[in-house]
Amino acid sequence: MSFLSDSRIVSRALDRFVRDSVRRRARVVTQPPIESLVAALDLDGHARHGGLTGRRLAAFLDQYLAAATRLHHPGYMSHQVAVPHPAGALASLVDGLTNNAMAIYEMGPSAAAIEFWVLNWMIDKVGWTPTPFPRDAESAPPHAGGVLTHGGSLANLTALLAARSAVAPEAWERGTPTDLALLAPSESHYSVARAAGILGLGSAAIYSLDVDSAGRIIPDRITACLRKVRADNRRPMALVANACSTVLGLYDRLREVGTICREQGLWLHVDGAHGASALLSTRYRSLLDGVELADSLVWDAHKLMRTPTLCAAVLLRDARHLDGAFKQEASYLFHDKAQPGVDFIHRTVECTKAGLGLRFYAVLAALGEKGLSDYIERQFALARDAHAYISGLPDFESPFPPEANILCFRICTSDAAQLTARDALIAEGSFHLSTAEVRGRRCLRAAFMNPDTSMDDVRRMIERVRDFSRNP
Ligand SMILES: Cc1ncc(COP(=O)(O)O)c(C=O)c1O
Repeated sequence: MSFLSDSRIVSRALDRFVRDSVRRRARVVTQPPIESLVAALDLDGHARHGGLTGRRLAAFLDQYLAAATRLHHPGYMSHQVAVPHPAGALASLVDGLTNNAMAIYEMGPSAAAIEFWVLNWMIDKVGWTPTPFPRDAESAPPHAGGVLTHGGSLANLTALLAARSAVAPEAWERGTPTDLALLAPSESHYSVARAAGILGLGSAAIYSLDVDSAGRIIPDRITACLRKVRADNRRPMALVANACSTVLGLYDRLREVGTICREQGLWLHVDGAHGASALLSTRYRSLLDGVELADSLVWDAHKLMRTPTLCAAVLLRDARHLDGAFKQEASYLFHDKAQPGVDFIHRTVECTKAGLGLRFYAVLAALGEKGLSDYIERQFALARDAHAYISGLPDFESPFPPEANILCFRICTSDAAQLTARDALIAEGSFHLSTAEVRGRRCLRAAFMNPDTSMDDVRRMIERVRDFSRNP
């Protein structure tokens, strides 16, 4: 196998894949039955005989890409996964081949330096005090800190572990106390409830915060919820706010929520996995007004920052709480050594960790902050335009004006018709939408991730939904 000639084969195939996708020359999704894919890819044969290189590699890639979901297709409007910038994909290649498992500095100084820089760049956007270089750490005042992790779900878990260590420092040795409570709106991403499960809190420890008709926390009702927690003889561990929520993409009012949390001495965790990227935009930054009041924030680069999967940041206003989240012994990793950099391993669930910062940094450095901010503003504006258009149609409804790039809407028929239309669009290969239940009714859901999706695409998509609901 020659790395250079095979990588040329791979880049040519990928270049064609992206161009065909952008020009809508292929279906956005193709879902052959899995048994036919296993056969078409000759998975048994290649595994048995080896030698997947050169022409065989080219043929294999053609098969592979034929059933790859085309995020670069402008009809891709479904899940909150970045349409990756090629610079980020190249960074993934560099990371893949160097394989610098950089959770300890000696396993990837460049990758660790980039992670350190990326975290501080994010911390600066939040408005917190950046982490000093280790050489200045002793004389430095308390500061923020963070770590990059493999996804927002793991990031939420890590942040809540830090919250637990602040509220119940004895938990690591003695186990999670049975009297802790987590306050969260029902709109929270399911990874929050999962984190509570993994932490051993139990689902009974999750108190649902009162929300308005759009699912946003009602700040005035937080103290009533806290009273209930305390009446149940529980200690509040953290309150989770959304920035933004997964289904509707709406932001909790962080300043009001954060002020109450400060008054009550309550840990505020902001799940900004999707929406924290609005911090880059002067136009939309106000959606996160008050975020600096949070104790922890999760921010995914692999959602709204064109970064290939995965790159999620856990950011803490006071870095010491993140250092308290985990305690472990491993004589082969944790020992005295010359340390010209920083180890992140103390702050992560992972032991082996990819150089996640590089894939985001490559995108940032290719587009520049302005380019990234323009992209975010464009996608948010598209959601607003789509909402205005759909709201004006007599046979559609979209009751919740979007704040981010996510829009839920429905054709005014049955719940089943929404699912039928979605399946038909996917089968046709023209558009890929997701779907969600909003206030008990099935909706279609568009997440405008693709920088090539335009209002023309939205209009065509609506026409097809209408066609399919008339002639299923
Ligand atoms: C608000 C929110 N938090 C967390 C997550 C989970 O992130 P990940 O998919 O990176 O694990 C999501 C995913 O969509 C999300 O929308």
